[in-house]
Amino acid sequence: MDKIIIEGGRLLNGRVAASGAKNAALPLMAATLIAPGLHTLYNVPDLRDTRTMLKVLETLGAAWTRTETEVRIDTSRLTGAEAPYELVKTMRASVLVLGPLLARTGYARVSLPGGCAIGARPINFHLRGFEQLGVRTTLREGYVEAAVDDRLQGNVVYFDSPSVTGTENLLMAAVTAEGKTVIKNAAREPEVGNLIDMLTAMGAEIQGRDTDRLTIHGVRRLHPTEISIIPDRIEVGTYLIAVAAAGGEATVTDCIPAHLPSLVEKLRGAGVGVVEHDTAITVTGIPPGKKDAPALRSVDIRTMPYPGFPTDLQAQFMALMTIADGVSVIHETIFENRFMHVAELQRMGGNIKIGGPTAIVKGKGRGGLSGAPVMATDLRASASLVIAGLAARGVTEISRIYHLERGYETMVDKLRGIGADIRIVRE
Ligand code: EPU
Repeated sequence: MDKIIIEGGRLLNGRVAASGAKNAALPLMAATLIAPGLHTLYNVPDLRDTRTMLKVLETLGAAWTRTETEVRIDTSRLTGAEAPYELVKTMRASVLVLGPLLARTGYARVSLPGGCAIGARPINFHLRGFEQLGVRTTLREGYVEAAVDDRLQGNVVYFDSPSVTGTENLLMAAVTAEGKTVIKNAAREPEVGNLIDMLTAMGAEIQGRDTDRLTIHGVRRLHPTEISIIPDRIEVGTYLIAVAAAGGEATVTDCIPAHLPSLVEKLRGAGVGVVEHDTAITVTGIPPGKKDAPALRSVDIRTMPYPGFPTDLQAQFMALMTIADGVSVIHETIFENRFMHVAELQRMGGNIKIGGPTAIVKGKGRGGLSGAPVMATDLRASASLVIAGLAARGVTEISRIYHLERGYETMVDKLRGIGADIRIVRE
């Protein structure tokens, strides 16, 4: 099994560039299905998940080419309407083809994703929303079949909680519906904004970007477009936390600082220096020339939909809190099982107790973690173990790193570029 080996205790200094956002690339790639023709996406990260989405598009009849970060997708002729179990089971976001297929052809068959490591993660909001637009949905042999006789019909759709992919799926279905659709309690994540920009460039009429109420005036058809994927705010946040934990001073470039409001505040609250530039953020864990790191202060976090603290940074921030001075209360409100990293952080010396959706972290101060063999359990949990390994004394060996490769482009190379002693051993 492939492993990541980290020799902890190196300061991280220099510059590291953010890649395009996984969670924006996936819906934007799916959106190419809506309008027949050649679409061009820029700044697409090369990840296991983006490759899986290309495979899903291929099974539907799309053709694609990739040159560095530019992906061209030709959706002129679709030959299928099914996202098979083999692909959906490796990536739940495959369900994002439901909305576009309904918009284009009125029919889709998609394997129903099962639960995953971080929670049950049903798609009932997506399905109920489609039904409110006149779609019949049936579950047969583990597949959701969605069909509409004529055009989808605009309606008011309310989400019990602001689902990110639910909002994206409904938006993509509603753009060609007849009449007006209103999505209430919509997700406001920047990735949704990126999708709205793409759909608008394709000829869709959408109002309310960045708010929780989106209004879509359906148009008969859309046309192909070209658009850039926004920088990955979760990747950026992961590197900011890594530098805060390991020490040193580094700048994460090619990013949008305004997309990380809650993390920047929490890092500052923890005593970490953060300076925002136009398209970069400089973080100071240990100032240059100083040997002794200033202590980190414990702060509490509560994960919330955007602009609240992202659940996708909870595990990484918890790793940081294990080496702070004081007690941190971490409340996970989005996913019911997103503390899988706790047992692994404990193996490295982290003092953490879990009670329901809350973790209490008693910080042990800098130098409080020691390297150990640990196992990655999901994407963001893996990132938290990398951060813990960078800050720990001694060697950390992380197995099951395929989780990491789903969502972080060349993470090991990027961290080496700023001075980490980290390598992959392929077996
Ligand atoms: N929910 C339902 N029913 C639904 C949809 C959601 O009950 O039909 C619940 C979920 O179980 C969860 C909450 O609503 O408790 C929010 O889930 P959401 O639908 O927003 O999550 P998602 O769209 O499936 C996206 C990201 C996740 C990220 C979450 C939350 C993509 C492809 N995935 O998932 O990213 O954690 O939003 O921000 O955009 C990751 O990148 O590691 C990752 C898991």
